[in-house]
Amino acid sequence: MSSVLTDEKIPNNVNLGGDKRLQRALEAWQPHFIDWWKQMGPVGWQERDIYLRTAISVEANGWAHFDYVKMPDYRWGIFLEPKDPDRKHGFGDFQGQPVWDEVPGEFRNMLRRLVVTQGDTEPASVEQQRNLGATAPSLYDLRNLFQVNVEEGRHLWAMVYLLHTYFGRDGREEAEELLMRRSGDADKPRILGAFNEPTSHWLSFFMFTMFTDRDGKYQLAALAESGFDPLARTCRFMLTEEAHHMFVGETGVQRVVKRACELTKQGDVRALGGVDLPTIQKYLHLWYSLSLDLFGGEVSSNAADAFAAGLKGRYKEDRYEEHKLIGSHFAMDVLEEGKVVHKDIAMRNALNEVLRSEYIKDCQRGVDRWNKTIREEGVSFELKLPSNKFHRQIGMWAGHCFTPDGEMIDAATWQARKGEWLPNEADETYIKSLMHAVYEPGKMASWIAPPAKGINGLPNDFEYVRV
Ligand SMILES: [Fe+2]
Ligand SMILES: [Fe+2]
Repeated sequence: MSSVLTDEKIPNNVNLGGDKRLQRALEAWQPHFIDWWKQMGPVGWQERDIYLRTAISVEANGWAHFDYVKMPDYRWGIFLEPKDPDRKHGFGDFQGQPVWDEVPGEFRNMLRRLVVTQGDTEPASVEQQRNLGATAPSLYDLRNLFQVNVEEGRHLWAMVYLLHTYFGRDGREEAEELLMRRSGDADKPRILGAFNEPTSHWLSFFMFTMFTDRDGKYQLAALAESGFDPLARTCRFMLTEEAHHMFVGETGVQRVVKRACELTKQGDVRALGGVDLPTIQKYLHLWYSLSLDLFGGEVSSNAADAFAAGLKGRYKEDRYEEHKLIGSHFAMDVLEEGKVVHKDIAMRNALNEVLRSEYIKDCQRGVDRWNKTIREEGVSFELKLPSNKFHRQIGMWAGHCFTPDGEMIDAATWQARKGEWLPNEADETYIKSLMHAVYEPGKMASWIAPPAKGINGLPNDFEYVRV
């Protein structure tokens, strides 16, 4: 395996050169991807030098090659974790049997839907974030935005590789469709709701990378268990990149929180040009609840089928003793005749909720760290994750109204009070009024604290983007 950038058009560790048909097909898709990137990628920065990390191999030292690069010249490659020839199905009806290297005919549609749904989120987030470069709070943040964007582009490549390699003509058609849908478009929207929501300012960007990219981590982790081995190996490598996206989100919000605390001690936060803690709480409510929806319905036969087929497992399946899940149950809240009841649900049907529960614990760890910052600043305020029933648009809580504490309320009360819990128009207007570009190395906008350290051991005032 090479640990330097190769001359190939598409850097890869899948021996693309050994399959000329596939190589030609992907080389034909590549210019369509570049067109999409130029049309729908970051606005205004395509010709600038950005200090970016490029994956050049899957070894520990190989996937992080740092250098200045213009984004359209970024080397989007195809990288899979090395194959384990002895790997067996770890769960479901085929547990213990050798994993599959080809798509089994009976599960082809299910598998394609999983790959396409995951693939669709990748370009969607690039589209959602495309205007943020005009208002970055620092060069450090501007560079992190672009790093996330190019890696989402690479994740699209990862899914397109699977579609082209394993799904024949309909896979190639799906790969084209991935470049045709548009986030937020009325006629051709992206597949999942949160990926059609505008990410119109940096507070939403940080919340998105904290909460929505974290959904991605859990979906990828569940697919990394897949008995379709190429999918598992692809997702394992994507997870290494995903960690950085959540770092950007968690530390981004943490820095806004820190600044809010500093200004709280000086007086009126908004008058001083900061984002006050109650407003941060509202955006947390919004992006967390949108992200919970991405796990799908609480009781789901699709989730049961994907588990039974060995296609999508649980988060870190190894931690569990039992991997067939026949006859076991999961205790969870469900809605029955308009009332919330706690009930045992057949485990396979509850797997979306099982994955969501793991995600919630992970989010809580991040919120705990934000609250630690608030305590260290000596400010009395606590950020909280709302109930998983609050502001849901998918699953059994959708169409019912709950307070952030999880108390069921009627629609009139919801209408009267939702502006206390979710960003209202005045909040959006205020946050947007704060968004002014700061492009001097080392300088920060008024509403955010500097990062604890720079990228790749470099100082905060390094010229991360050559303006
Ligand atoms: Fe991604
Ligand atoms: Fe991501």
